Amino acid sequence: MPAPDTAAFGPGFTWGVATSAYQIEGAAAEDGRSPSIWDTFCKVPGAIDNGDDGTAACDHYHRWPEDVALMRGLGVDSYRFSVAWPRVVPGGTGPVNPAGLAFYDRLVDALLEAGIRPNATLYHWDLPQVLQDRGGWSQRATAEAFAEYSGVVAAALGDRVTEWSTLNEPLCSAWIGHLEGLMAPGVRDLGTAVRASFHLHLGHGLAAQAVRAASPGPVRLGIVNNLSTCEPATDSAADLAAARRADGHINRWWLDPVLGRGYPQDMLDVYGVDLPDQGNDLATIAQPLDWMGVNYYFRQIIADAPDAAAPHFRQLPGPNREHTAMGWEVHAAGLEELLLRLTREYGVRELLVTENGAAYQDTVAADGTVSDPGRTAYLEQHLAACARAAAAGAPLTGYYAWSLLDNFEWAYGYDKRFGLIHVDYPTQRRTVKASGHRYAQIIAAHRSGATDVASTH
Ligand code: IFM
Repeated sequence: MPAPDTAAFGPGFTWGVATSAYQIEGAAAEDGRSPSIWDTFCKVPGAIDNGDDGTAACDHYHRWPEDVALMRGLGVDSYRFSVAWPRVVPGGTGPVNPAGLAFYDRLVDALLEAGIRPNATLYHWDLPQVLQDRGGWSQRATAEAFAEYSGVVAAALGDRVTEWSTLNEPLCSAWIGHLEGLMAPGVRDLGTAVRASFHLHLGHGLAAQAVRAASPGPVRLGIVNNLSTCEPATDSAADLAAARRADGHINRWWLDPVLGRGYPQDMLDVYGVDLPDQGNDLATIAQPLDWMGVNYYFRQIIADAPDAAAPHFRQLPGPNREHTAMGWEVHAAGLEELLLRLTREYGVRELLVTENGAAYQDTVAADGTVSDPGRTAYLEQHLAACARAAAAGAPLTGYYAWSLLDNFEWAYGYDKRFGLIHVDYPTQRRTVKASGHRYAQIIAAHRSGATDVASTH
């Protein structure tokens, strides 16, 4: 595998790593944190592989100094993490918990001291359970509460944090959490899911306003969507139409409203659900964005499924030989295609790859090393795809590898390891994997202008 030529990224390119609060922090009941919908969902029998939960996770809440040092060792420019709403405003709305905020305060200071720019996500799926008890994202009040909490965080950290995103992957919150029921809060209802998607978007717009109003420092704000290219399984008219619906469900529903295009009419027709729009909401949702975050993992091969529930399609396994431990097809060209689509069709002016990575079954060898050639190749192939997109005009200014650490992979528990750093959960020992060393090497080479790094495998 040739090493990626990163020359197209330019000297100011941001190299980063990403995590999220519930997946790494642990300390679920410490310092006033209230339960989130994920604490609740993890208690549902059979919901999570092996009955795992995020109670301890990577114990990052206590081990963050070591984790910041590890990031420094990798040489990253930026760390994308999420703030846990139930730590900061345990009641969902109302009183602020100073101990919860203090954790992020310390983390941000330590990052800046290590020369690492924080990129803070305000919502990575851990809604305070108390708000779910009142209907969660199906209710407009949750969008308003999200803005209130976002303003609190921006007021406290905005003197040092410039990069903000409102939501991480609202598709997962709405479709997987409220339609498929495979993520918290585990609801299976199309009407609720569509209403949740609308209130997530409204929450994004209101929070964007709140962050800009409350931050004492400059704000560069985006939203993070998980997007996939959607290819028809065959060239039949039915599969072509299904792929178009899949594109609406997976991509356009999440891009169009935040970019000022409103909701796609074809999908409104497919869902047949009235939006709880109160008149001016579409304008609120379409706040100006400084950047758009793209999380990319795999492409979708789509077949028509008239008997399935709306939106009537099914996903087929991709034809490439290489699949990750998640069963996801490795297809780097999809990332290049997406970045160029956002540039050409949507006119996005700044793009960040906010997540990209792969799960493999890693083990620590007797000599203490972790060899992960699959992940290393995945990283190199996707960086090469980013570089091709940048060379073709995509305004890509950064790349965040998912993930810094092995962590709690939601319904898959701890079995699926995405980290550049291996975590031995019983001891919490961290070991930089070969892919982590390779990432550090690519970053260092880019920085020194030597973009033709030799491949290590
Ligand atoms: O672990 C998740 C993350 O929380 C959101 N994006 C996808 C990752 C891998 O599944």
